[in-house]
Amino acid sequence: MKVSNRTSEVEYAIRDIIVHAREYEKSGRQIIYLNIGDPVKYDFKTPDHIKQALIDSVSHDFNYYTDSEGLYELREAIVEKESRKGLSITAEDVLVTNGVSEGLDMTMASIVESNTEVLMPGPYYPPYASYVKFYGGRPVEFKLTPDGKPDLEDLISKITPRTRALCIISPNNPTGEVFDHKSLKQLVDIAAEHSLYIICDEIYDSLVFDGEFTGIGKVAKDSPVILLNGFSKVYLMTGWRCGYICMNSNCSKLENIRNNIPKLARVRISTNLPVQRAAIAALRGPQDHIPMMVSKLRRRRDLVVKRLNQISSISCNVPKGAFYAFPKINLSSRWKNDKHFVLDLLNETGVLTVHGSGFGSNFGTDHFRIVYLPQEQILDEAMDKLEHFVNGPAK
Ligand SMILES: Cc1ncc(COP(=O)(O)O)c(C=O)c1O
Repeated sequence: MKVSNRTSEVEYAIRDIIVHAREYEKSGRQIIYLNIGDPVKYDFKTPDHIKQALIDSVSHDFNYYTDSEGLYELREAIVEKESRKGLSITAEDVLVTNGVSEGLDMTMASIVESNTEVLMPGPYYPPYASYVKFYGGRPVEFKLTPDGKPDLEDLISKITPRTRALCIISPNNPTGEVFDHKSLKQLVDIAAEHSLYIICDEIYDSLVFDGEFTGIGKVAKDSPVILLNGFSKVYLMTGWRCGYICMNSNCSKLENIRNNIPKLARVRISTNLPVQRAAIAALRGPQDHIPMMVSKLRRRRDLVVKRLNQISSISCNVPKGAFYAFPKINLSSRWKNDKHFVLDLLNETGVLTVHGSGFGSNFGTDHFRIVYLPQEQILDEAMDKLEHFVNGPAK
């Protein structure tokens, strides 16, 4: 029986690769998982006060459907956070979603149609391209300079009358790049000049190791900025699925989408009420897990980047935020492509990473992505295995 053509190009390399890992595990061998960016699967645990808020909500019968836009009190707490980062919003400009993933889906659903294009920095986090394709559009990647800044000339050359939006993900998945104030301002100016929506994903906003994080709000002024953010990474609530969309309140051009997205939210009824109450506790409660997380991650990043750059056929930029490294590999004649490399690495050593081409064939190819969330001892073991594998004899 037929399935829709629309879904044929939907892919998510980060999870698609797990099919191969399951095969490997069937043979009784153990895998070192460096593929999924879920800190809660490692030694980063949801803070107790957030867990307690969830438990209290469930036991006090907060178990019903809630407003489609989200709990008003949570929307107010989100305003407090995002205003501190510089964005101009009120609770009416916030809509709570089932993770950033749903927020991204609703945003693309509202903006993209056939024959439209969406710009995104290459390499990209796969759902950005998948949702654009799903809604009939075309993802268009723009280049980054070697020091990780947007290549403005390349970006401008790719704007056409069909371009609808410009995506920014900072800190970035998979590269760990963080755009500075100047780059963000340049991107916002270009988008405003060409009447493009600016879709900015700041899910890793507090996970920055070097230098300052600048929120898009700091440069947004009256531009059509749609901010996506959530609780998965910084508040260690991956499995609870909670995120949000914010619309710059200074921008009158956002009026149509401001009315459209809540319609989509009403169709899916609401998000999880106990989790929304826990999210209020996350935003308004103690924040001390964040600096602890950042310093643990910094040590793990330093270890991984140092070890990677000691391997002669691998080179890796220093990621400034999030928890991913995106090394380049010289494939020589030993591996056909980066996916072959990643599968060979898995089959020979049990180390599971993700092939770079899964993050876009233009800029992801010849790379692989490593999640450096595990403890140092495990990362060291994985790096030993990787080094031995890469330096080993060709088969
Ligand atoms: C850039 C980016 N946006 C969104 C997500 C997904 O977020 P959520 O768990 O809130 O759906 C991820 C997860 O890895 C991500 O890296």
